[in-house]
Amino acid sequence: MLSSEAIKISNICCIGAGYVGGPTMAVIAKMCPDINVHVLDNNESKIKLWNSKDLNNLPVYEPGLSSLIHECRGKNLFFSTDIKKNISRSEIIFMAVNTPTKTYGSGKGMAADLTFIEKCSRQILKYSKSDKIVVEKSTLPVKTAEKIKSILGNSNTNINFEVVSNPEFLAEGSAINDLFKSDRVLIGGESTKSGISAVQTLCRIYSRWIPKEKILTTNVWSSELSKLVSNAFLAQRISSINSISALCEKTGADISEVSSAVGMDKRIGKYFLNSSVGFGGSCFKKDILNLVYLSKFYGLHEVADYWHQVVKINEYQMNRFFLTILNNLFQTVYKKNLSIFGWAFKKNTNDSRESASIYVSTNLLIEGAILNIYDPKVESSKIINDLEFALKNHGKSKIEISTIINSQIKIHNDLYESVIDSHAIAILTEWDIFKELNWKRIYKFMVKPAFVFDGRRIVDEFKLKKIGLNVFKIGS
Ligand code: NAD
Ligand code: UDX
Repeated sequence: MLSSEAIKISNICCIGAGYVGGPTMAVIAKMCPDINVHVLDNNESKIKLWNSKDLNNLPVYEPGLSSLIHECRGKNLFFSTDIKKNISRSEIIFMAVNTPTKTYGSGKGMAADLTFIEKCSRQILKYSKSDKIVVEKSTLPVKTAEKIKSILGNSNTNINFEVVSNPEFLAEGSAINDLFKSDRVLIGGESTKSGISAVQTLCRIYSRWIPKEKILTTNVWSSELSKLVSNAFLAQRISSINSISALCEKTGADISEVSSAVGMDKRIGKYFLNSSVGFGGSCFKKDILNLVYLSKFYGLHEVADYWHQVVKINEYQMNRFFLTILNNLFQTVYKKNLSIFGWAFKKNTNDSRESASIYVSTNLLIEGAILNIYDPKVESSKIINDLEFALKNHGKSKIEISTIINSQIKIHNDLYESVIDSHAIAILTEWDIFKELNWKRIYKFMVKPAFVFDGRRIVDEFKLKKIGLNVFKIGS
């Protein structure tokens, strides 16, 4: 298929030491001991944490990550802020910087903000002294490679920059397993001689542990678009099942039974049909909004409306859950203690970006509730930051925000302490520890009538009801 020669690689660097850059490079370092892998970030405190002796203190929590770091760090895996030196010596440069939704100007609230990608491209241009393969690892709007090329094309030298798209499909919480056993690795490149050679070089790296038939090569635009579409399809399944959960609650059907029945059809498949309080995470909402923006940009308004509905149903689901809590607690939560179980957007991560907990908690705070929050991995400072930001978006002033934070929020290290004098518990992350709780003990501590609102469908409602708790399970 490919005729050009792969290039010999001694050094790889990755700009962006976040949830993608850190784990992805750790796996490449492990599988390619002959290659030096440098993970770079301009955030000094993050790099310090990546280099810290205490492996419980890494900036990213992922099962299996700390042992990989322990094994490779200092041998062929390095974390550094020295972007200049590492760009200069690397043959391949991955860009794994953040591409958030724009918060200003044209495309505000929809388009991807490419500021960080542009800055990276300019750094690569400035510090390169030899040919480079530049890899788009970040999720990007289709046609971004063209923009990167136009920046890199401004060199006065004869350096050749080959831009390749290699989107990342890992899911947080299972990133290491996903990286070792990827369903597919997608590499999009140009069909010129140097383009084919760049794609082949990347294929050689992945083929050390990924079976060849799972490495898919395409043109650049297909690769960029496939990443957005994959996330849109996954999120669409969740919104589809969540829309039906609302119908289940009205009719007496049970969403788990419906998911099982529907998912047994192999054309549909059983995965990603778990009804929940709503999807969170840094990717789904941002990438669908980006797809919506792109569709509108190309005048495809029906396509844009179709995908936008996936995000709207997600907001509807989170809001429905909040209203269920409010309505069951006699339409008022003012000055009532409520317990929030889980802040991360899913289990096995310390990431809370776009977590449903933020949405539900902010609405409860505005209603005057006192929140007792417990999460096994998300740091208190992160929880406070999330709430400050959300309250600001609700139009609260600095003084109002600080009053709410100081008088209505308590963050607990002990889950059982967090339920003392609580009227209700809202389960918002599906952490395994929430499946094995001593509910009799919890019930004793709570104000009666005591309520459990299960946004993740993890409790045994019959057992809890027997103890005396009132249970609301989303989709039942
Ligand atoms: P992140 O915010 O965790 O990490 C990005 C890092 O890039 C930050 O540490 C930031 O300081 C650094 N950075 C930004 N500009 C820089 C520059 N010019 N020089 C040096 N460092 C710079 O983001 P993430 O979750 O790792 O996501 C990165 C990209 O990967 C995004 O495009 C995202 O959509 C995509 N993606 C994320 C996931 C996921 O599960 N998080 C999965 C697949 C794809
Ligand atoms: C997602 C994609 O799965 C991954 O391929 C991509 O690279 C990045 O975006 P991530 O957001 O890390 O990964 O986690 P994911 O497992 O997809 O969960 C996203 C959200 O959907 C979480 O809040 C999760 O709890 C929720 N979810 C997932 C459901 O509510 N129901 C489901 O059936 C599955």
